[in-house]
Amino acid sequence: MSDLLAIEAVHGGYGTADILNGADLRISGPEIVVIIGPNGAGKSTLMKAVFGLVRVRVGNIRFNGEDITNMRADLVAERGLAYVPQERNVFPSLTVDENLDMGAYLKRDDGKRKTAIYEIFPQLRLRRAQRAGSLSGGERQMLAMGRALMIEPKLLLLDEPTAALAPRLVDETLEKIVEIRSLGIGVLMVEQNAKAALRRADRGVVMVMGRVRLEDEAHNLLARTDIADLFLGA
Ligand SMILES: Nc1ncnc2c1ncn2[C@@H]1O[C@H](COP(=O)(O)OP(=O)(O)O)[C@@H](O)[C@H]1O
Ligand SMILES: [Mg+2]
Repeated sequence: MSDLLAIEAVHGGYGTADILNGADLRISGPEIVVIIGPNGAGKSTLMKAVFGLVRVRVGNIRFNGEDITNMRADLVAERGLAYVPQERNVFPSLTVDENLDMGAYLKRDDGKRKTAIYEIFPQLRLRRAQRAGSLSGGERQMLAMGRALMIEPKLLLLDEPTAALAPRLVDETLEKIVEIRSLGIGVLMVEQNAKAALRRADRGVVMVMGRVRLEDEAHNLLARTDIADLFLGA
C-alpha cells in the first residue's frame, strides 16, 4: 500500500546552505502526526518544501503515489494537499465568508462545502459577515483551517496552529483537529504545545537540525522522560 505522503532523504533550503539535511517522514492515511523539535530545526521549512515553497535539492516527496518534488504550490493543492502557514493565513480585510470562498478557488462550491465547514466551526457561522481582521486569535485559526478545508484535502499541513492561543483555546483547536481526522483527512502539524498535541495524535516525530531524529507512537513519546525533559516542556 502506498503512503499518503512520503518524504525521502530531502535536502534543501533557501539559498546555498541546506536547512533540511536528509529529512524522512511518512504519513499513511488519516492520522495525526506531530512534528516537535527546537527552534530553527527546520520544521516550517519541511512543510514549505512539501508545498513547493522551498527548493528540494536532493531527495523526493510523493503524495498519493505521485512525485510532487518541487511542484508548484497551486498544483500541489489541486492534488488534495492543503497548507496553513503559521502567520498571514487569512485575508484580514475580507469577511469570514469571503475568506472561505477564496479557499475554494480551485473548485466551484455550490455552498455544500461552506455549510460543512460552518458545521465544524459554528462560531465562524456567527461571524460570517465580519472581517477576518476583527476575529480573535482562536477564531482566526479556525478560519485558516476552514479555508484550507474548502479544497477537500486528503492531507492538511498545519504550522503551529495553537501558537499564541490561551490554554482553553489550545485544547479547543486541537479537538477540532481530531474532528478533522474523523472526516478521513490526514493531519501533519508542527506544535510547540507538544504534550497537548501528542495526547490527540497518532504519532510524533522529533526534528533536529534538518532531520527527523526520532519517530514513535504519540503515547510512547509522551511516556519517555528523556523526550519530555528535552522537548515537551510543561
Ligand atoms: N526565508 C528564509 N530565508 C533564509 N533562511 C531562513 C528562512 N526561513 C527560515 N530560515 C532559516 O532556516 C532555519 C530553519 O527555520 P525554520 O524551518 O523556520 O525552523 P523551525 O520551524 O523548526 O523553528 C533557521 O536557521 C532559519 O533562520
Ligand atoms: Mg517554525
